[in-house]
Amino acid sequence: MITVARVADLRARVAEARAAGRRRVGFVPTMGALHEGHRSLLDVAAGAGRADFVVASVFVNPTQFGPNEDFAAYPRTPEADAALLAGAGADLLWMPEVGDLYPDGAQTFVEVTELTKGLCGARRPGHFRGVATVVAKLFAAVQPDVAVFGEKDWQQLQTLRRMTRDLLLPIEIVGAPTVREADGLALSSRNRYLTAEDRPRALGLSAALREMKERRAAGEKGAAALLAAGRAVLAACGVERVDYLELVDAETLVPLETLGAGPARGLVAAFVGKARLIDNAAV
Ligand code: PAJ
Repeated sequence: MITVARVADLRARVAEARAAGRRRVGFVPTMGALHEGHRSLLDVAAGAGRADFVVASVFVNPTQFGPNEDFAAYPRTPEADAALLAGAGADLLWMPEVGDLYPDGAQTFVEVTELTKGLCGARRPGHFRGVATVVAKLFAAVQPDVAVFGEKDWQQLQTLRRMTRDLLLPIEIVGAPTVREADGLALSSRNRYLTAEDRPRALGLSAALREMKERRAAGEKGAAALLAAGRAVLAACGVERVDYLELVDAETLVPLETLGAGPARGLVAAFVGKARLIDNAAV
């Protein structure tokens, strides 16, 4: 695996690979502090003949963090990240500096308007504008054929699918299932903020989603009843600061009153100790 920082070097390496017959380029963008969830995205990128040259990027993107969020404190573990990516079969690691992606005087942003209004978009103003902008730039630099994103960040995945369609980008967006600990906790770089006392409470998120899924399978269709059951589980687990718990159309993210017509998704965000955790599942 080769590591590059500058956009010119990235382009040269990708061009070289294509010229050598590795025609399908796969791309996995990350912010580092990598774990098994990220590794699974590389497996998906390289699997099923999706790509024959896989690029991963590590970049903690300042524009997607709010003024009171954890940009400065976000975990940075470049050596461990490079080792994990090399072991996961990445061919090229791109680690740009802020100035490589945001040239002096940068004033161009990408905004996906409707999909980012609710859920995390409502609680983190500007977050998805930062995500869409940086991913558009990453796409412009790498020019991949296929890019893989985790279902763990469901609203992000739907937003980036929409952006890719709307900007006519010839890139296939693939969603990869959420990787969890054995007890159900979704892997996240932010789990390292959890103390020993926080850890069991953090299970409330996946448990609430599971409860809603089970009640739905047992025949309950009313969103209000399902959400009440989910909230009861969060409370029983000691999760006090729930940011949101919602049942939405899986694609449009519009809140549902009754389930049944199309695929529904339950999404939850909550503070557990210092960490703001999110999770989601098909319901
Ligand atoms: P980051 O949080 O590092 O996540 C990188 C990718 O890993 C995302 O597609 C995310 O959905 C996926 N991922 C994280 N945890 C996962 C898990 N437990 N199972 C499966 N996939 C998981 O998301 C971002 O970075 C940034 O917003 C980014 C898209 C890189 C733009 O800056």
